[in-house]
Amino acid sequence: MFGSRADLVVDLTYLATLAAPIVAGVSIRSARGRRYERHRRLQVGLLLVCLLAVLALETRIRLAGGSGALLRQAPAAWAKTARIFLGVHITAAVATYAAWSYLAAASWRRYRQALPGSFSQRHRRLGFLILAGLGFTALSATGMYLFAFVI
Ligand code: HEM
Repeated sequence: MFGSRADLVVDLTYLATLAAPIVAGVSIRSARGRRYERHRRLQVGLLLVCLLAVLALETRIRLAGGSGALLRQAPAAWAKTARIFLGVHITAAVATYAAWSYLAAASWRRYRQALPGSFSQRHRRLGFLILAGLGFTALSATGMYLFAFVI
């Protein structure tokens, strides 16, 4: 798709990862404008699309023989850097997606009872942290993409 060594599953997952902070930002603007229903639908839709994409990527990586097999496509000189990068990327991505799933479920339950309301402050704080996590995940995914499929 992008003229790299990556296949369609990898490219689509990468695209979803890049789009996530942008769409999350749009959805947060909706919340700011008190369009809560739109905010909720965008958040839940985006989360489901991203979870499905990551599941597809994970299956694809396992079928290819694990992340080691993918990284072997990178030049040997980059192998150690790519390994460290992968650890940072996976840690940030897993923490972000876990917090994101928790916030979506917790907010869904509290919507119109404690949100807006007593849950608002925690929701907002964690929401902005998740937005930062999605941004970092997109950046580090770009690094991994370059290591495994471009360089
Ligand atoms: C079912 C899911 C969700 C529902 C029902 C929901 C609902 C709401 C509501 C009602 C507000 C306004 C709160 C207030 O002003 O008192 C809000 C704000 C906000 N939400 Fe969500 N939300 C959901 C998911 C998420 C998720 C997963 C994120 C993470 C990115 C998020 C991030 C934010 C942020 C950052 C704000 C503050 C916006 C601002 O006023 O500056 N929300 N949400």
